[in-house]
Amino acid sequence: MWKYMKRYLHFAVIAALFMVGEVMMDLIQPGLMSEIVDDGVLGVNNGGVGNAHLILTLGLEMVVLVIFGGLCGSLNNVFVHMTGQNIGNEMRKDCFRNIMTFSFPQMDRFGTGSLVTRVTNDITQVQNFISQFVRGMIRTSMLTLGSIYFMFRLNHRFGLIVLCALPFIMGTMIFCMVKAYPLLPKLQAQLDQINEIMQEDIAGIRIIKACVREIYEKLRFGKANDDLIKTQLRVLVIFAFMNPVMNMLMNIVVVVILLAGSVQVSGGLTTPGIIMAAITYTTQLLNGILMLVMLFQNITKGIASWHRVKEILDSKPELVDGSYDGETEIRGDDKVVRGKIEFRDVSFAFPGSSQTVLKHINLTINPGETIAVMGATGCGKTALASLIPRFYDVTGGQLLIDGVDVREYKQKALRKKVAIALQKSELFSVPIKENIAWGKPGASDEEIASAASIAQAVDFIQSTPGGYDTPVAERGMSLSGGQKQRISISRAVLKPSEILIFDDSTSALDLKTEANLYEALSAAKPDTTKIIIAQRIASVRRADRIVVLNGGRMEACGSHAELLRSSKTYQDIYHSQIGGEDNG
Ligand SMILES: Nc1ncnc2c1ncn2[C@@H]1O[C@H](COP(=O)(O)OP(=O)(O)O)[C@@H](O)[C@H]1O
Ligand SMILES: [Mg+2]
Repeated sequence: MWKYMKRYLHFAVIAALFMVGEVMMDLIQPGLMSEIVDDGVLGVNNGGVGNAHLILTLGLEMVVLVIFGGLCGSLNNVFVHMTGQNIGNEMRKDCFRNIMTFSFPQMDRFGTGSLVTRVTNDITQVQNFISQFVRGMIRTSMLTLGSIYFMFRLNHRFGLIVLCALPFIMGTMIFCMVKAYPLLPKLQAQLDQINEIMQEDIAGIRIIKACVREIYEKLRFGKANDDLIKTQLRVLVIFAFMNPVMNMLMNIVVVVILLAGSVQVSGGLTTPGIIMAAITYTTQLLNGILMLVMLFQNITKGIASWHRVKEILDSKPELVDGSYDGETEIRGDDKVVRGKIEFRDVSFAFPGSSQTVLKHINLTINPGETIAVMGATGCGKTALASLIPRFYDVTGGQLLIDGVDVREYKQKALRKKVAIALQKSELFSVPIKENIAWGKPGASDEEIASAASIAQAVDFIQSTPGGYDTPVAERGMSLSGGQKQRISISRAVLKPSEILIFDDSTSALDLKTEANLYEALSAAKPDTTKIIIAQRIASVRRADRIVVLNGGRMEACGSHAELLRSSKTYQDIYHSQIGGEDNG
């Protein structure tokens, strides 16, 4: 945290100085008040004759001090928040920057909900903690120590009385803090739980309604909420008990001061004004201690949050960037090829999983070739495609693009070569136009329209109220599955690339639209290497070669005609689908 603190230390120091000013004013006031009472009103040192002029000048002095103290307080607040907000701002940016470098396994490990909570709520907690720390530490220590010091200066007996009470006051405070301390991390965990349920349920509201799970989810949320309240109440009860005890202790101190004071006043050892001042200092002392308790609570919360933020800040990118920029002459190859993919005995398991998803894949895909990948769900098609832009690293063998291992590429250079339409279409809540131009910012309207035309998306886009400017609702909720797929495809087609991957991207299209799409694609991008993952024979039959995956192994590879002759699995799929269509 020091790394962030030191950048804004100047603000913190200025804030501290203003705080010193504010507290000094608070500490000086009771002394002036006692002078007004003793010399101005009672005329203790003047045979009982008051001094109206003194009352006026001291009164004015007090007003000036109050104004000055208030000003210091306001400026302290400004600088305290400048410290906290700036630090929070930098942390948020750093976290976001780090999250952007996260590999997919890292994302999976943290979880979206947790990342959002950390970057928003936790950083706000840290921010508050810093503000309160800068403000509170100086205020409480100065107020506590200052009150005791000034009391001793006024009358050392009063000072001693307060000093005697201090162990009791501190004892109560420590007792309550020890009781509450174990509850605070629990509170944080329960708050997390609520955030998690909220995020999941709001994002999944359609499924909840479709499955009539509202009551169950309401109960689940209610339980998490009740748990939180229970813990919160326990904390509140502890502190609710603490306040009256502290007040009682303070009142005992006041009574003792009054008793001792009355004896001293009749003995001529002290004055009523000094007694008044002593009582004010006692109150200030107690306020200082109560503030310390508050501060302690917030510091505990702040530190817990800081640890969660730190986990993001300390995460190092897991995929080590290579040095090859994809532009310099390709090593060991005279001719510059673009879009050649070689799987050399590639095996793959997801990080943290024992299941080998891909086993000994050997496959060379030539530039400009169209390769289709088929196989049952869960056989590893998406995994295979994810290796090409290096979303994950292979666990065995090697994957080369244009003759260079993907791990040797700079990630940016590698991903520039690849355009991918993911299995689950991800759209952003910006106009359709911007969604399409996501991979090529600044693309002209003609380019966008031409990409949409290849993706067979023009008709439906033009039928929307705003055409290409129609905003897409959050996560594409305003579009049908097939429409979303076509926008994703337009996006992939528009992005300049040497390799184009469609991961089950045409599954929601009817056969005719799909056929038109592939035809237009071949005509528009003859030199681009195309990998088409699909379930339907109709989607893959025109590909140059078809790879049949079965349980992570490459079972067969060849053209439609070849596979029909040689592959039992392909024949089975063919007959099940074509037979089904005939019957239909
Ligand atoms: N992030 C992940 N972590 C661990 N296992 C995964 C992950 N994603 C998919 N799997 C598993 O890997 C296997 C292959 O998945 P996938 O490549 O998505 O199949 P598909 O052929 O349907 O595209 C499946 O058994 C799936 O359960
Ligand atoms: Mg898949």
